[in-house]
Amino acid sequence: MRNKVIAGNWKMNKDVFETADLINGLKKSVAAKNVEVIVCPPFTSLVVAQQLLKGSTIKLGAQDVSVHDDGAYTGEVSVTMLKSVGCEYVIVGHSERRQYFHESNELINQKAKKVLAASMRVIICVGETLEEREKEITDKVITAQIKGVLAGLSESDLERVIIAYEPVWAIGTGKNATPRQAEDVHQLIRKLVGQIYSWNVAEKIIIQYGGSVKPENAKELLSQDDIDGALVGGACLKPDSFAGIISPI
Ligand code: 13P
Repeated sequence: MRNKVIAGNWKMNKDVFETADLINGLKKSVAAKNVEVIVCPPFTSLVVAQQLLKGSTIKLGAQDVSVHDDGAYTGEVSVTMLKSVGCEYVIVGHSERRQYFHESNELINQKAKKVLAASMRVIICVGETLEEREKEITDKVITAQIKGVLAGLSESDLERVIIAYEPVWAIGTGKNATPRQAEDVHQLIRKLVGQIYSWNVAEKIIIQYGGSVKPENAKELLSQDDIDGALVGGACLKPDSFAGIISPI
């Protein structure tokens, strides 16, 4: 039995003052029982979030990381830096990074390896665009992404990997994938992990769904056999709506 994992991707929202308000609100309203809850604020908010989350069960994550260890890489943030501010998780390969910053499966794979080498956990995102879904090549796209992002990762690495299936057309659009559409892709991802590794690994891996998850649709999505959690964008920016996704689990 896999426990549910709910992560909030704040994206480029909340300054330090707003971060403090949101974290304090979450501490009051989020009651995590058998659910792992993670918040991923922007880099500038990680320190204040870490301080405010002391003693809480809510875990801290970052939204991206550099492939480099240190040195002359202006604007980049390393895994060591993230670890030093209490991050236990890092999201890599979000579709916004793929789309706006031209990140490839190969680069995402390198980032995942950096995170794992630092003994942290990684949330690796995959997902097809609307055009790809309409061309009926979703399975092909997801297969190529999964093979690319997992290349060279060991079976023991996979214990610290979460895969987030985020159909690009469902992100920020208010139009979530139906539970059936999401479940179909989650089953495909689990099957691929089984083929690359083993059924033991496939049965254990957490596969989150992301894309317009909100309190109104979370329960049905999360009741699917292969949907083990959610990666939440817009609805994680208010304590009530984030708690409204977590509390019914
Ligand atoms: P929304 O929940 O706003 O659609 O965003 C999903 C997402 O991209 C989470 O990473």
